[in-house]
Amino acid sequence: MQYSNELTTTWQTPSNIAIVKYWGKREVQEPVNPSISFSLSAARTTTKITISPREEGGFLFLLDGKETTGFDTKIKKFLELVQGRLPIIKNHFLKIESSNTFPHSTGIASSASSMSALAFCLADLQQQTNRKHPLNISEVSSLARLGSGSAARSVFGGWNLWGRLSEIPESSDHYAIPAPVSVAPVFQTFHDDILIVNSTTKPVSSSAGHALMNNHPFRDGRINQAHTNALNLLKHLETGNLDAFIELAESEALSLHALMMSSSPSYTLLQPNSLILIEKIREFRKTNDIPVCFTMDAGPNIHLLYPHEFSEKVKEWQERQLKPLCEEGRIIRDFVGKGPQKIINS
Ligand code: DP6
Repeated sequence: MQYSNELTTTWQTPSNIAIVKYWGKREVQEPVNPSISFSLSAARTTTKITISPREEGGFLFLLDGKETTGFDTKIKKFLELVQGRLPIIKNHFLKIESSNTFPHSTGIASSASSMSALAFCLADLQQQTNRKHPLNISEVSSLARLGSGSAARSVFGGWNLWGRLSEIPESSDHYAIPAPVSVAPVFQTFHDDILIVNSTTKPVSSSAGHALMNNHPFRDGRINQAHTNALNLLKHLETGNLDAFIELAESEALSLHALMMSSSPSYTLLQPNSLILIEKIREFRKTNDIPVCFTMDAGPNIHLLYPHEFSEKVKEWQERQLKPLCEEGRIIRDFVGKGPQKIINS
């Protein structure tokens, strides 16, 4: 179908932080293990897509209003993967305008929010051509997954599960679902302060890291560990068990980095200040009996996690003890956030 007029839509979607980590994948973009994350409030991407008829297709990507070619390969690959399900891509030109709420060059991955925003826009535009069906969120999650695995989880607010767990029949390797438990209030307002240790681009990409899991000596053990942790985390989220949550979250984060250190070739993304921050967080927890803990992405930055009721005490300590260990004193304060939003009249 072709249109004489342009069609446009704008979506804002959240980034997310995983507690049980997705690490390792099968074709096409299916995870080797289930992962659980929460969507963030401050770290979000807004994307507007305008399509106009053009037989040969094609796209233009603008980041913060500036034409940018750095993401072209990733976007092109994504469009190729999804065009069978989104026929509008084939005979339209796409103008993609994107911006992130979080500052650039912080070493924070934006692929979860950017790919989910792209998926929402494209699914919405496809749906505008055939209003018979409402937007199907599982389908959007599945499309987002093809752009970046973690993006599959950025289609809802709150806590989400992506990946098959035989104990949870509605779970899937193809798309995420909201955590299938009633999440205790303490985890609905959880904080995630990102302590920026180093903002430069990491030496080994997540995609390369996933690939190193294919022949990893601990592969089977890791898959079992993630299954057990995913089931246990759901239990802790429901019962509000903070001690068990802390133990699990830190073990997952350190296991992720241990997998990188024991892959072939091996590599380290942790930096001296990452380790000092970890020690300080554990020491503060022990000395003050305040339930702070950490998680990490595939990078040197530390995510400081804690319940909302301890915000004041944490902030005071953070300013004094943690900030000096961060690059240019940079900390990004975030917390559990809401789901994607369609922006009207952008
Ligand atoms: C460590 O989703 O960035 O953050 O699917 O190759 O785009 P691709 O990988 P990506 O991997 C994220 C890995 C992680 C853990 C997680 O978010 O679950």
